Amino acid sequence: MTAPAALCVLVTRRLSVDPLPFLRARLGEGCGVELHDSDDPMPRADLLARAASADAIVATLSDRIDEELLARAPRLRVVANHAVGVDNIDLRACRARGVRATNTPDVLTDATADMAFALLLAVARRLREGERMIREGRFTGWAPTMLLGLELRGALLGIFGFGRIGQAVARRALGFGMRVAWSRREGTSAPSAPRIPADLQTKVSELSFDEMLAQADAISLHAPLNASTRHAFSAAHLARMKRGALLINTARGPLVDEAALAAALASGHLGGAGLDVFEHEPKVHPALIPRDDVVLVPHLGSATVAARRAMAETAMAEAARVLLGQEPLHPVAPR
Ligand code: GLV
Repeated sequence: MTAPAALCVLVTRRLSVDPLPFLRARLGEGCGVELHDSDDPMPRADLLARAASADAIVATLSDRIDEELLARAPRLRVVANHAVGVDNIDLRACRARGVRATNTPDVLTDATADMAFALLLAVARRLREGERMIREGRFTGWAPTMLLGLELRGALLGIFGFGRIGQAVARRALGFGMRVAWSRREGTSAPSAPRIPADLQTKVSELSFDEMLAQADAISLHAPLNASTRHAFSAAHLARMKRGALLINTARGPLVDEAALAAALASGHLGGAGLDVFEHEPKVHPALIPRDDVVLVPHLGSATVAARRAMAETAMAEAARVLLGQEPLHPVAPR
């Protein structure tokens, strides 16, 4: 009789938690960990080669987990994404092969909502222009009409995608005296209405997508990326936004047609944008780079010490649960 092969977990990126002791504490000293110990993504060829002997993959959002990979990974039982978004995973292909997929909700909600709000404040109050004025020695004194921005109190924030993070942004906006409305994309197979927590029920309203575009002073995106949300903010939709409105995206870049966004800013139709994610990440549309009305950050939504640690622990714990034959706490399945 041959002894069962030791479990092998492939961790595709350096994480905030050392995977070896964490996984061995759960899966035993025999557990092998293949770590791509780098801040750079694992090259595709390495990922495909190392998937062949993996029982679990702890993946990051830039690792494409698709049929090509799954076909080469006969032992694979679970893909534990170190992210809440799972658009990098072909969930149908996983299900067809009996591979579980999991994500890391909750632990990054506040960090991501904080980033959305930081971008909203930065764009609304023109921080980039003010910063640059000082650093370039052009600040010669206070002036009553200098760099006037949008007052948040009383302004209407539209939230596209009203799940955990959208709701956390709503709470922040209400604290700043904003009016808050949320919306789903119309005319698609959008999921059913989200459950609105009791503390928000009387304080936020639902608008149709068109109403939100037409009325909101700022729109913050918090929807997952899928076929029905890709380019939800196309040129035509951006044109229907209120003149001077702000667009904030901490969700996924392809929700927005980035070339169309650059054009809408260049024409003066939109008043500014705060972007943490990009359509062709890590590339950024060149027309956005020099703009003073755009604040750009490199996908930092969940980048707090606490959130990244919790994401690493959650993803690895989920991988271990499945390998131990337990139900994962955060399974994701195709809609
Ligand atoms: C980050 O973008 C995530 O989906 O967790």
